[in-house]
Amino acid sequence: MNSIEKATTPICLRGLELRNRFIKSATYEGMTDGGYPTPLLIEHHRRLAQGGIGLTTIAYGAVSPEGRTNRQQLLIGDRVASYAHQLTDAIHSEGGKCMLQLTHCGYFTKNQDLRFKRSLGPSARINLYGILGGIIMSRSMTEHDMREMAKNFAVSASFARRVGFDAVEIHMGHGYLLSQFLSPRINRRKDDYGGSISNRLRFPLEVVEAVRHAVGEDYPIVCKINLEDGFRGGLTIRDSVEVAKALEKEGVDALVLSGGFTSITPFYLMRGDVPLWEMVRAEKDVAQKMAMALFGKFIMRRFAFEENFFMPMALKIREAVAMPLAYLGGVCSRQGIERAMDEGFDLIALARAVIHDPDFLLKVMDGRVSVSECNHCNICVAEMDRGGIKCVI
Ligand SMILES: Cc1cc2nc3c(=O)[nH]c(=O)nc-3n(C[C@H](O)[C@H](O)[C@H](O)COP(=O)(O)O)c2cc1C
Repeated sequence: MNSIEKATTPICLRGLELRNRFIKSATYEGMTDGGYPTPLLIEHHRRLAQGGIGLTTIAYGAVSPEGRTNRQQLLIGDRVASYAHQLTDAIHSEGGKCMLQLTHCGYFTKNQDLRFKRSLGPSARINLYGILGGIIMSRSMTEHDMREMAKNFAVSASFARRVGFDAVEIHMGHGYLLSQFLSPRINRRKDDYGGSISNRLRFPLEVVEAVRHAVGEDYPIVCKINLEDGFRGGLTIRDSVEVAKALEKEGVDALVLSGGFTSITPFYLMRGDVPLWEMVRAEKDVAQKMAMALFGKFIMRRFAFEENFFMPMALKIREAVAMPLAYLGGVCSRQGIERAMDEGFDLIALARAVIHDPDFLLKVMDGRVSVSECNHCNICVAEMDRGGIKCVI
């Protein structure tokens, strides 16, 4: 069997059979008005499933109201149950499976519900992202906060199971709350939750334990982790090898490997162009718009696109654990898919290639296409705030 054929074979994650090895990686869709899924969101994921994705990830499900970076993100809870049922049914009707990404933004937020309050994080820290909106500082979470937060993840995970999601993805990467705990530069705690990597892992592992307890032994839990934060003093690959080993030991069913820190190195994970002016145009708040126009180019560093850009680091995780791993980052051709399979990854996650063309995989499989025409302009990022992600090419 060649590597492309292998990518089309089913895989089982804790009893969940996926029809192939392809995951649509979470991309905040911008299709959840006031936190409620819209028909656009349902159609978006149905279409991805129709295009052959085995497992599609519904992005940025906030586990609590203050866990959103803005008010539009999906707020998990019973009020959205009927929409969530429609969403999961639509994906299943196309033979696809779906997982809900469970997220909390931690200190990094501009959610106006928090105006003049402090956001939550591992340590007190200035919140440059929300400063103009009056969310100036975060406060260091207490152990009570952490217990409540782990419960929020657990309640959200059982909600996901109840409304028909086939798995949950706990977001431990990209500089959100659990990633902030893992990052030595952001987590300055002096207690059992800061310092060594085993201490920084303590809270993320408690979250996994709470989620496992809530969903039971027969439901898949995936974690998205950083290979590196992408800035000096952040999480390094040496740490992330330890993170992967600990999550394997904890019984997590698969890892999606990524990197970068949204508040510091946002385009580390979406390599290619930085669509600064498109983002300025899409920003609705006048003060934020001006700040972005003036300072955006200093904050949003560009990282050159390369096919399969995370491969060298991802291989270090492959060597360290036996559990299922999803390769993510810059997969945009038949060759890129083959390489990820040949290197021993069990799954392949991709985002921009299927945002550009939801039939990309079908076309690769039947030979109509060998390279995606996505040019990594990243304007899809600005589209999140202009009615929903789409490719503008
Ligand atoms: C428009 C856009 C929105 C994204 N939103 C999220 C998100 O909500 N959660 C997440 O984990 N990753 C998010 N990502 C990152 C992607 O999941 C993925 O890691 C990244 O695009 C690299 O994969 P690719 O090269 O296949 O596009 C986003 C990426 C894009 C382009």
